[in-house]
Amino acid sequence: MEKILIIGASGQIGGACMNVLAADFKLVGTYFSHAKENLLKLDFTDKENLESVMKSVKPSVVILASALTNVDYCETHPLEAKKMNEDAVSSVAFECNKINAKLVYISTDYVFDGQDGPYTEEDIPSPISIYGRTKYNGELNAKKAGKWLIIRTGNVFDYGFDEKNFVVRTIERLKNNEQIKVQSDLFASPTLATHIANAIRLLLLAKKSGLYNVCGQEVMSRSQLATQIAVFFKLNAKLITPIKSSELNLAASRPLRGGLISKKLELEVGLPAMPLQTAFSLIQKKMDKNG
Ligand SMILES: NC(=O)c1ccc[n+]([C@@H]2O[C@H](COP(=O)([O-])OP(=O)(O)OC[C@H]3O[C@@H](n4cnc5c(N)ncnc54)[C@H](OP(=O)(O)O)[C@@H]3O)[C@@H](O)[C@H]2O)c1
Repeated sequence: MEKILIIGASGQIGGACMNVLAADFKLVGTYFSHAKENLLKLDFTDKENLESVMKSVKPSVVILASALTNVDYCETHPLEAKKMNEDAVSSVAFECNKINAKLVYISTDYVFDGQDGPYTEEDIPSPISIYGRTKYNGELNAKKAGKWLIIRTGNVFDYGFDEKNFVVRTIERLKNNEQIKVQSDLFASPTLATHIANAIRLLLLAKKSGLYNVCGQEVMSRSQLATQIAVFFKLNAKLITPIKSSELNLAASRPLRGGLISKKLELEVGLPAMPLQTAFSLIQKKMDKNG
């Protein structure tokens, strides 16, 4: 069985990969600040720490799901963003080359400017934030690995890995009868983390390399997503007030007309984009199971 090292297995996408890939691969996962059973501690910005983990695990594939993901924090802390989203990716690519391992790098639709999304793999990146720029440079650094697979995704949610995502937070707020203000001009493709893990599994089994978009089927605004959440989970949609992004005075600009098209994935490994209703049903099942 092939061995995979999942860096960032305590996060949302890394956690989903731990669940989905376990049947086909031998997995070793890492955490940084949120210790979890059976995960190794790793700071991927520490070259010695990274080298020693790579040496002891000797994976044939490394899934890099660690990054500085807070878009506004990146904008106000550009050096930290560069260190994690660019420099550490270079170090991982360097270590992969030493043992001929394939690097799977998770990227984002924030590499685009959001003038005319949704985007295909052929569209030219033009980031408008520090997060987007460092993630795009991270892609370029990931390509320094001899064997690489880059997954672009966006607006990720799920249940059971990390409950700070927009969908789970919106469910909680609406359940608590909180009024929420949500952007009506920020469009993306909401994507279930488990769908990303399913895509990575199929791409690895098919020995694919290159760039693939992996996303949900619909492109919609945040406020449309909040309304769909209210309808599906039978919550009060009247608590949702649509607002313009500019009203929030956020540190970082967002690609307003973002979102992705994942036809290449469907054509090459037969996995169609997941409809939002399917993703919500899967979340509902997990929530019910959790009581
Ligand atoms: N979430 C989205 O909507 C979205 C959209 C597009 C692309 N992406 C990309 O997908 C990837 C994963 O995102 P996610 O949402 O799963 O993120 P997440 O839930 O915030 O997880 C981030 C992971 O990085 C780990 N980490 C943080 N600092 C680290 C360090 N110094 N060394 C090693 N690991 C460290 C965290 O470990 P601890 O928690 O243990 O500290 C956690 O496991 C990122 O590359 C992100 O840019 C995410």
